[in-house]
Amino acid sequence: MKLDLTSKKALVTGSTAGIGFAIAQGLDAAGAEVFINGRSQERVDAAIAQLKKSNPASKARGVAADCGNAKGVALLQSKIPSLDILVNNVGIFEPKPFFEIPDEDWMRFFEVNVMSGVRLSRHYTPGMVKAQWGRVIFISSESAVQIPSEMIHYGTTKTAQLAIARGLAETVGASGVTVNSVLVGPTKSEGVGTFVNDLARQGGVSQEQVEKDFFKTMRPSSLVQRFLSPEEVANMVVFLCSKEASATTGSALRVDGGVTRGIL
Ligand SMILES: NC(=O)c1ccc[n+]([C@@H]2O[C@H](COP(=O)([O-])OP(=O)(O)OC[C@H]3O[C@@H](n4cnc5c(N)ncnc54)[C@H](OP(=O)(O)O)[C@@H]3O)[C@@H](O)[C@H]2O)c1
Repeated sequence: MKLDLTSKKALVTGSTAGIGFAIAQGLDAAGAEVFINGRSQERVDAAIAQLKKSNPASKARGVAADCGNAKGVALLQSKIPSLDILVNNVGIFEPKPFFEIPDEDWMRFFEVNVMSGVRLSRHYTPGMVKAQWGRVIFISSESAVQIPSEMIHYGTTKTAQLAIARGLAETVGASGVTVNSVLVGPTKSEGVGTFVNDLARQGGVSQEQVEKDFFKTMRPSSLVQRFLSPEEVANMVVFLCSKEASATTGSALRVDGGVTRGIL
């Protein structure tokens, strides 16, 4: 199957690094005009340069804006009038015991992980419906269905994304616009890579050992017993963005290495 996204305009939030960057790279390689997003112009420019290096035909552009508040999202919207593909990827996580999570953290997690996607979907989806074609994707997590007790606020925002995606899919119905969420498992993105590196240095062990121990103690249900690569996640997302995925809507799809137990 050759996926062709030529003439499609796509925004991937939080795409200067990690899973977002891999998704942007996949869409870019399929011919889409991709907008990179991150908080600083410097990181946005560096990501675009990296894309152009791997794909000389790249049409990538960028908008530096903080998706964690209404002002930043409004800036994005003012720079990009319409979209065919919206990937709500931006997301933050931080382990913290429930009894120590103040209101401010709850609100910050909701602003970045939930409201960024709500605001952007509310703005861009009507245009897609009018054009009778569009793709909206929410990058959620296995933590949406297996709430991590070490970061309940994060898990809660990831569950909320599933609800929004399903509700929006029902709202747009048979319009030609599909809306889906992707439940991602532990992935070696920039943030996780740094975390593993730090643990290895502190413990005087190899990164491979840290990874092995993490899966043995923290994620024993993982069938692959390793971190996924951002590209493995991106492959599913690029497919969902394609014309070929026209029958998949209102779904919560897993790219989690089998960590989520249960058949459905
Ligand atoms: N990695 C995992 O194991 C894993 C597992 C399940 C689900 N997920 C989900 O996958 C998504 C991506 O995670 P990741 O691990 O790839 O993240 P990451 O490596 O930490 O990458 C963060 C990206 O988000 C951008 N970003 C952060 N805050 C932003 C903000 N307020 N506004 C705009 N951009 C912002 C960063 O850009 P700048 O620094 O340039 O601003 C960077 O491009 C998240 O929704 C996460 O919940 C990840």
